[in-house]
Amino acid sequence: MSSRTSSPATRVDELRASLNAALIAYHAEDDPIMSDEDYDRLYDELVAIEEEHPELVIGDSPTQRVGSAPSERFRKVEHLVAMGSLDKVTSEETLVKFAEDVRKRLGTDEPIAYLAEPKIDGLAVSLLYEQGRYVRGATRGDGQRGEDVTPNLRTIKAIPLAMKSGDGTSQPALVEIRGEVFMPLSGFVAFTERQAAEGKRAAPNPRNAAAGSVRQLDPAITAGRPLSIWTYGVGQAKGVEFESQWEILQWLRAHGFRTNPFAERLESIEEVARAAVEWETRRAELDYEIDGIVIKVDSLDQQRRLGALHGRPRWARAYKWAPITAQTKLRKIHIRVGRTGALNPWAELEPVQVGGVTVSNATLHNEADINRKDLRAGDTVIVQRAGDVIPQVVGPVLPHARGSRRFRMPACCPLCGTEIVKPEGEVMHRCPNRACPSRGLETLIHWVQAAMDIEGVGEQFVRRLWDHGLLRSMPDLYRLTPEQLSELEGYGEISSRKAIESIAESKAQPFSRVLFGLNIPKTGWVLARNLARRFGSVDALLEASQEDLEAVEGIGPDRAELIAEWFADDENRKLVEELRSLGLQMAAGEAERPVDGPLTGNQYVITGTLEAWSRDEAKASLEALGAKISESVSKKTTGVVVGESPGSKLAKAQKLGVPVLSEDDLRALIG
Ligand code: IVH
Repeated sequence: MSSRTSSPATRVDELRASLNAALIAYHAEDDPIMSDEDYDRLYDELVAIEEEHPELVIGDSPTQRVGSAPSERFRKVEHLVAMGSLDKVTSEETLVKFAEDVRKRLGTDEPIAYLAEPKIDGLAVSLLYEQGRYVRGATRGDGQRGEDVTPNLRTIKAIPLAMKSGDGTSQPALVEIRGEVFMPLSGFVAFTERQAAEGKRAAPNPRNAAAGSVRQLDPAITAGRPLSIWTYGVGQAKGVEFESQWEILQWLRAHGFRTNPFAERLESIEEVARAAVEWETRRAELDYEIDGIVIKVDSLDQQRRLGALHGRPRWARAYKWAPITAQTKLRKIHIRVGRTGALNPWAELEPVQVGGVTVSNATLHNEADINRKDLRAGDTVIVQRAGDVIPQVVGPVLPHARGSRRFRMPACCPLCGTEIVKPEGEVMHRCPNRACPSRGLETLIHWVQAAMDIEGVGEQFVRRLWDHGLLRSMPDLYRLTPEQLSELEGYGEISSRKAIESIAESKAQPFSRVLFGLNIPKTGWVLARNLARRFGSVDALLEASQEDLEAVEGIGPDRAELIAEWFADDENRKLVEELRSLGLQMAAGEAERPVDGPLTGNQYVITGTLEAWSRDEAKASLEALGAKISESVSKKTTGVVVGESPGSKLAKAQKLGVPVLSEDDLRALIG
């Protein structure tokens, strides 16, 4: 190609063809055919020729992506085929109902295949091409009529201005391409930072950012935004025919449009259900937000026979999830001193909807974590919540709030004023004062909620009684009178009596729960239960030596020392005696007593999926014979039972030389 030998008209044609092909290869095919430098060089050459020969400038020239003058308002345009909307399903059950409805309406036993693809959280658009040239772009609007955003969409390089010729045949006379314009997450972060730097309000999420960007009256603004598109359908088409949704996707791809690589054609609704589950976990890996998957009956003939109701096709559904990130203001960083003295920072947030629930606070772990993210009071932050996971503050949206400072833990305990310590090698700051009021309060909250699980008596109850000076320790709880309670606002005779009754009932809770509630250092629920089983009573524990304790699974020398110290302390001994005299369980009950059987003293670990038993069944059978089941493999492990697709525990067993048992071995063992 040489600019000197060909006429300007031929040369612009050549340049346009090369540049358009390069854009399609780069955006739609992820397979660049030209370096950035070469692209820029050819582009500059084209600009130069067009400046000299304005008569050669046409609408689908790559130079014409930006350049239309801002408009006053958007013209309305009629879609040739309406842009419908989708009914939702939100569970496997409703998904199956949909499939049953499809099956019923189609009547026969004919096979029904489905197409499943990500539901992009962006802005639906319709692109009109005549003879392969982009002539009009519109938003969805009300489905019948949208807004004419032709110049704005032209600025998106992932939208071809001239379609690729596919198999080399001529282009269809007319075709409406349907797709979703979106802002990639990486682009959204950069865009948000830029907006903030310029003192402009940032969009709350990528979808709003994309929609706002497309609906700019000045296309030059749209051009500066990081937008892209996934196309997924065809509206009106003249000169081309399709038989299936899958075929449409292939055709779009062949003509230079971006189609989502994760679209799948599936043979049954069960496979669709599996894909939906898989997608919810894979969602976080994508560089764009999806709010579900779209499921379509693949055959267009079946689609036509199913039809639509009020613009919502009977052949498609959106399987939707709740959004998982949101932005809000971090009002303040608070410190809560836990029952172990650890300083737990938490964020007070301006309430915001994330993943279908309102979030108004989130834990912040520790000082190092806060500073790694550089979170500051007053900042706008991104909050994330996935599945059952507790909300997390992911990071600030920069710049920081004006006049803000890096976070520092207080030097003194906010409750008792004692100087805070941070033991060497630990991440948590601690209030070393064992009499710190907050420790007492948190221990009580732990007692009523986690340990004794007292019905109707929770954190609020404890806090109020604490504030009224009615409650300082666990024994106080069992000495409360209805008269004392009725002094409190909101406690009538009935509610007072109820609370006192359920407190009294908690005396019957098993010994292991009492141990858990005592707030013995480093003693969580599992260890408390093991201690109860191994020692059988509080008296045995009061006499246990450090060596005795070390013999228990999960207790190393450090822990044994802390636990022995706790039981040797006079105040703690007094507490135990007081609780005993009030009638709490100080010896292991039937369920906690170690079973004596042929496998007593043996410890097993179960890993992988078993065929004939669930893990709980296998566990219960072994325990009934006196064995113990543990979660991790150690030298103390007697054997590792290995099922289908075992994890790292098998490798660990092999490394330590611990015997490996098959499911057959297990059967032989249990008999
Ligand atoms: S197909 C009859 N496929 O979801 C409508 N839509 O409520 C057929 N969307 O307005 C739409 N990703 O904005 C389809 N892969 C996809 C989609 C998708 C996102 C949006 C689109 C539409 C809305 C349907």
